[in-house]
Amino acid sequence: MTWLVTGSSGAIGRRLAADLAQRGLPLRLLDRTTPPTGLPDGAEFIEADLRDLGAVERAATGVRAIIHLAAASQEGPFATMVEHNITGTHHVLEAARRQRVPRVVLASSHHVTGLLPVGTAPDEQALAPDSFYAVSKVTGEALGRLYAHKSGLEVVAVRIGSYRTAPSEPRHRATWLSPGDATDLLHAAATRPLPERFLVVYGTSGNTERWWPAAGWDLLGYRPGDDAARHPATGVLTDRFTGGAFADHELPT
Ligand SMILES: NC(=O)c1ccc[n+]([C@@H]2O[C@H](COP(=O)([O-])OP(=O)(O)OC[C@H]3O[C@@H](n4cnc5c(N)ncnc54)[C@H](O)[C@@H]3O)[C@@H](O)[C@H]2O)c1
Repeated sequence: MTWLVTGSSGAIGRRLAADLAQRGLPLRLLDRTTPPTGLPDGAEFIEADLRDLGAVERAATGVRAIIHLAAASQEGPFATMVEHNITGTHHVLEAARRQRVPRVVLASSHHVTGLLPVGTAPDEQALAPDSFYAVSKVTGEALGRLYAHKSGLEVVAVRIGSYRTAPSEPRHRATWLSPGDATDLLHAAATRPLPERFLVVYGTSGNTERWWPAAGWDLLGYRPGDDAARHPATGVLTDRFTGGAFADHELPT
């Protein structure tokens, strides 16, 4: 059965789609912009906007799992976050419920705890969003939990760290998620049996210096292959908060 990847023209989506296609998975890709490079072999592309519930529901027809990446992925005005990230995620979950898609993976963000000072390990309940963007991701997680409870959906929210081909700033010693590890984690989140219908995990590589707990990794069978400590150091950490620069931005208007 088909997998639906939203945000497939973005940085993570392009690589993920290529990797999943290589693993032989039938893919339907959705984005509001056409992919800058070609589609992986056999993949279907739907140009659609998440704000259009009907289009998202059509894309979810006959789907086994949705990996929901599409979002305004940088800090921006509150209205933008509501439209693309909160309403967009609601539409994905509602489409999944209506079309009886068994599993949805939500791309959440480490910025949901980005106002925790560097060096503190968040407990399970901690929320400290560092931006309007992060508030939208907190809301996405909350919607995921709600839909998992009220419908038959299984939902895994992955709090992605810093997705880069290689660590490029000091905080990446802790926060880096390599492309290969991202594919393994998102694939596992879409397929592994879950003890409960809702799960939140942090998404980093196996960084020796990581800040966040690996809770849920064993459950998903996620064994990261990369570690930022194996890359050259990129300077001295000066960030006060785990969200880095996001924690220092002025609120956009
Ligand atoms: N890259 C990171 O380090 C990182 C870290 C934490 C979380 N995340 C999350 O992971 C996901 C993917 O990140 P990315 O780096 O690939 O982002 P990206 O900005 O490169 O890609 C996002 C994609 O979503 C699409 N999109 C945005 N709004 C849309 C809408 N309304 N309808 C349809 N498509 C829409 C864009 O066209 C784009 O192709 C995002 O949800 C982001 O918030 C990324």
